[in-house]
Amino acid sequence: MELTQYNELIGAASAARLLAHAPYSGFQVGAAVATKTGKIYTGCNVENVSLGLTICAERSAIATAIAQGSKDFVAIAVVTAGKQPAIPCGACRQVLAEFNPNMKIVAATIDGKVQEFDLAELLPFPSLEILEGSPDV
Ligand code: THU
Repeated sequence: MELTQYNELIGAASAARLLAHAPYSGFQVGAAVATKTGKIYTGCNVENVSLGLTICAERSAIATAIAQGSKDFVAIAVVTAGKQPAIPCGACRQVLAEFNPNMKIVAATIDGKVQEFDLAELLPFPSLEILEGSPDV
């Protein structure tokens, strides 16, 4: 994807962030995932009073896309407030890797600080099969 397309993805994630349900942490997160053909699906964090049942914005975006028939993901943008961009948690990394272990990750703040990562560098050994052995290293 080109940088201009990343801007579109970041814009979609920023808009989704405003819909976050984050009454417990107050930390709103928006995500937008792009497919190979350029479709964009968004998500936001959905917190729960149990805390442990909270759904991150990244997994929310993936669920939206899957429910609408898309799964050929190439990139995901995550937008948050704060000084530093937030990168997906371990659980989200594994969920993203299910669809594309080489997905691009664009992490941005609402003030315009942007960092780009490869999912493969954030999660070099994702689980890709059930009952798999350890990787050959
Ligand atoms: N959160 C996300 O949605 N994505 C991230 O990448 C970082 C964390 C959410 C979970 C929780 O609702 C809040 O941010 C604080 O951790």
